[in-house]
Amino acid sequence: MTTTLAAPSTVGSALHASPAIDAAIRAIRHEVEAKQRELTGARPPRAELKETLDGWLKRATEVRGRGPLYPYLGSGVGNGALVELVDGSVKWDLINGIGVHMFGHGDPELIEASIRGSISDLVMQGNLQYNPEAIEFGELLSREAARSSRLKHCFITNSGCMANEAALKVCQQKTNAAPRIIAFADCFMGRSTTMSQIGDTAAYRQGIAQNILVDYLPFYDPEMGQRSIDMTLWHLEQLIHRYPGQHCCLIAELVQGEGGFHTAPREFFVALFEAARKAGIPIWDDEVQTFGRTESMFCFERLNLGEYIDVVTVGKITQACACLYTADFNPKAGLLSGTFAASTSAFATGLSILRRLQSGGYYGPTGRIARLHAAYREHADAFVARHPEWFPPVVNSLGRTTRTVVAGHGGMMRLTPFGGNRERIGKLLNNLFEDGVIAFSCGHGPYHLRFLPPVGVMKPEQFGPVFEIMEKSFARTP
Ligand SMILES: Cc1ncc(COP(=O)(O)O)c(C=O)c1O
Repeated sequence: MTTTLAAPSTVGSALHASPAIDAAIRAIRHEVEAKQRELTGARPPRAELKETLDGWLKRATEVRGRGPLYPYLGSGVGNGALVELVDGSVKWDLINGIGVHMFGHGDPELIEASIRGSISDLVMQGNLQYNPEAIEFGELLSREAARSSRLKHCFITNSGCMANEAALKVCQQKTNAAPRIIAFADCFMGRSTTMSQIGDTAAYRQGIAQNILVDYLPFYDPEMGQRSIDMTLWHLEQLIHRYPGQHCCLIAELVQGEGGFHTAPREFFVALFEAARKAGIPIWDDEVQTFGRTESMFCFERLNLGEYIDVVTVGKITQACACLYTADFNPKAGLLSGTFAASTSAFATGLSILRRLQSGGYYGPTGRIARLHAAYREHADAFVARHPEWFPPVVNSLGRTTRTVVAGHGGMMRLTPFGGNRERIGKLLNNLFEDGVIAFSCGHGPYHLRFLPPVGVMKPEQFGPVFEIMEKSFARTP
């Protein structure tokens, strides 16, 4: 699929329609695809390349002042869910840079879109200089959002965190700089000084001066059901009573990402959003991790919550990030701007991704994402049944014991071995990496294995070899 890069009569449009460029791109795709076909499954590192990887990791540690989380360094070639590293190993990538690469590694359509973007006159767009694809990108997101909400406008940013900064500013301006914010326990929002304050992880705000007043609500606990809804609503009402008119917004991830892939039913959010709305508190939905990955493009649509949302932020799989808001929340001139919005290639690939998501049969209860989730559950449930010794009951963050060890929604999948013990899960993640599966953790105790597989391209049957590797890695984790 190609992107409209300029109006029909310009030199630019002639360049982008050039048969010579089409032929060159076809040749590049052909060559890349031929190489990708050599990656057919996980394989171990090649001994003679170990030194190369070690050398790179040493340089990475030196330049950053700290070693990377994983001994990961890609060779630049991948094939869907498979990626080759510089040590010659091939691994199943089930985390994708924490949810960025929905179409996995080396997707030919994205390579093509990226090349087309790269022949544009601008490497980066933003602030004063936009080309048409930035507008198309914003329009596409706004149109999708507007289908089931009052959201209308879209401001593009260069990270999820900056989208969140924009959202916070919009909410603060709307409420005349109300000084407090209501967030959920265990939330994550990015790494700016303010987002590190709001995000509920002590280590991420260590040594950072407090610059916003945050009130936390407990998230939904499925074991408690209606009592959980009543309890959180009670907390919210207390806050509204205690600090009348002082909250600039209620911020929610509809599926908590870093916090532990916690889900909640519609009734939970409706109860809270109704109360917030009644108190004049704006509602901001952070979809930086959920966008594209659940059973609808915007998670609020699946939960039929669009009518409540004043501001939403998206990122990761969109390649460029954005903050969308209703006409009523459109801020005054001067509040939102920035040198960089995104690279032209990021817009071109982002558009290609969004168009495929619109038309590729991904969404709905029987769409590709739901089917991939069902396949994950089937494999995970069977794995747990085969090895109850690795899956004892888990004490959740509210101190309640649960036997639910397989959870998540859509392209956000989680597994809780070893009672959620952080140290053992850390060792397991290292073993999985060595054996050929890249995953990550989430939660703040209990901890979980977190999978954000490339839902755009991963096939249900590919969980077969992944769980074979899991079997081996679990067995050698003390
Ligand atoms: C829910 C949520 N919000 C915001 C962010 C921050 O996005 P970025 O890392 O692009 O700044 C993340 C990143 O993981 C996220 O998961």
